[in-house]
Amino acid sequence: MADGQKTLVLTGASRGIGHATVKRFSAGGWRVLTCSRQPFDPRCPWPGGEENHIQIDLASPDQTIAAIETIREKLDGRLHALVNNAGISPKGPGGARLSTLDTDLRTWGQVFHVNFFASVVLARGLMQELAAAQGAVVNVTSIAGARVHPFAGAAYATSKAALAALTREMAHDFGPLGVRVNAIAPGEVETSILSPGTEKIVEGLPLRRLGQPSEVADVIWFLCSDAASYVTGTEIEVNAGQHV
Ligand SMILES: NC(=O)c1ccc[n+]([C@@H]2O[C@H](COP(=O)([O-])OP(=O)(O)OC[C@H]3O[C@@H](n4cnc5c(N)ncnc54)[C@H](OP(=O)(O)O)[C@@H]3O)[C@@H](O)[C@H]2O)c1
Repeated sequence: MADGQKTLVLTGASRGIGHATVKRFSAGGWRVLTCSRQPFDPRCPWPGGEENHIQIDLASPDQTIAAIETIREKLDGRLHALVNNAGISPKGPGGARLSTLDTDLRTWGQVFHVNFFASVVLARGLMQELAAAQGAVVNVTSIAGARVHPFAGAAYATSKAALAALTREMAHDFGPLGVRVNAIAPGEVETSILSPGTEKIVEGLPLRRLGQPSEVADVIWFLCSDAASYVTGTEIEVNAGQHV
């Protein structure tokens, strides 16, 4: 690691918003430790990618807890940012929305482990390193956490609402350590998580277009930068005005 280089731990880095976030932070000179289920893909162009990748299934509490030591060993005692971006949005047969009437307990559990519990377990486990760097945490929530969405299921939506509430709680608890905690709530961003039919929603958005993963990564970058040094406990909507 270069002297003075900042470090980010990012979950869900292999595709979509996470992939764009690695590119943004790498371009800004940061070292990025990536966490996802797949092994590192050598096609990913950023420096040091392979040795900075941690293969982990965040649906497993045991793997998540064990990963904290693996991550700590890769740090020099300081962590400048943790971005909890990994998320899953399971669908029913034929891509159907899973409502509260047809989501089984195993699915609720999986969604909450990946989308919610992993975020607080990682932040708590890396608290000393975050405090040492006066770092920042960004939780990736969703517009579905604030309203019923035609495609996002009930477990997904409630996990994101819980993650927004967790952001508030963590901002309160981590603030005295000098660690800022914020959330970003994307709307319809062009990644593999989108469902067929999203075009209909996009037609009604004030900006009339899908978001690009890089546009979300730019807001994460802002929240982790000194430009946001007095911002904590907030959730920024990144959605072309979908919430208005
Ligand atoms: N795209 C949108 O329109 C939109 C809107 C609102 C919110 N969001 C939120 O934004 C975040 C990123 O979404 P995206 O659209 O970029 O999703 P995506 O393209 O489906 O990517 C999800 C990422 O999470 C990782 N992941 C999934 N399950 C995991 C697990 N069990 N353990 C570890 N990593 C796991 C995946 O990597 P592996 O497959 O390698 O594990 C992948 O890197 C999510 O939290 C999502 O809820 C997205």
